Amino acid sequence: MSVLVTGGAGYIGSHTVRRLHADGADVVVLDTLELGYPQAIPGIPLVRASIDDVDAVTAACKEHRVTQVIHFAGYKSVGESMELPTKYWINNVAGTATLVDTMLGLGVDQIVFSSSCSVNGTPDSVPVAEDAAIRPESVYAASKAMVEQVLGWYGVTHGLRSVSLRYFNAAGAEADGRHGEVWDRSINLVPVAMKAALGRRPPLQVFADDYPTPDGTCIRDYIHVDDLADAHVRALAYLAGGGASIALNVGTGIGSSVLDVIKATERAAGRPVPHDIVGRRAGDPVATYADPTLINATLGWTATKTLDDIVETAWRWHSTHLDGYG
Ligand code: WQD
Repeated sequence: MSVLVTGGAGYIGSHTVRRLHADGADVVVLDTLELGYPQAIPGIPLVRASIDDVDAVTAACKEHRVTQVIHFAGYKSVGESMELPTKYWINNVAGTATLVDTMLGLGVDQIVFSSSCSVNGTPDSVPVAEDAAIRPESVYAASKAMVEQVLGWYGVTHGLRSVSLRYFNAAGAEADGRHGEVWDRSINLVPVAMKAALGRRPPLQVFADDYPTPDGTCIRDYIHVDDLADAHVRALAYLAGGGASIALNVGTGIGSSVLDVIKATERAAGRPVPHDIVGRRAGDPVATYADPTLINATLGWTATKTLDDIVETAWRWHSTHLDGYG
């Protein structure tokens, strides 16, 4: 009984791998290391291969007697996806179909998929529940929505059972500060704010403060990567217990503005976050945060970490790892 984790050397993947390992689970990681770091998964078996490498996936599943899969591997840059769409269609969508075909051929029929709240695009209302319209606004988001469909149809044709976890804004780091998000591969708000506070980049550009929100800046649902890892562990147990395929929103249900994040970062860092207010970024929803009712009812999951926990752990990691894993 073991778990194959694709993309398990990446930010959220490695955090989940370390949690599974700490829980005593047998884990094997499949990762090309294009975006991942072996230093993030010390002591964990690593197969350096892509999800469409049938021989490598087959060998890993047989050698480690894999019974379940967590599928993180995928390109994830919204901007890049609009410039290089084929890369996203082939890797994220076709690659997943090849992975699932290989799994099913070996009798492995349970998968947890790293999906995204971006499948909903700009929601009609908040908080966002799972029945919100699927209206992706980028090739990246569309690839996530398509993979959910592919997994659903494999459920119809081959009895695959899947849990698609739609992440909101993942952030934060390991409590001891030894593992976290590598900022040179992320343009997300928290690592960018940290880099600005540490003087390792120009001031943070706040993409406008003229939105119809209390302080004029956009609102998001920031979820600690510990809580995200816990959702994956619970999803595996749900499937092992015979749970039916489902898509679940993974968020705290609490909205925080860009300025909330900046102030929390300044509290954690004990120094200012240099920032300038600039124009709006195309495609930014005014506000999006989760309705966590269904994931709580289905997995018994609820977020435990606050925005301050997120920025305090992120600060501890970034301020002691200016060059990531070196
Ligand atoms: C957050 C807020 C920006 C950078 C992310 C992922 C997406 C999905 C949802 C998983 C926004 C503002 C940001 C900056 C800023 N998660 N911002 N200056 O766009 O909400 O989407 O979470 O799949 O894949 O990308 O995240 O961190 O880019 O932005 O003002 O330099 O911070 O306008 O309001 P986003 P983000």
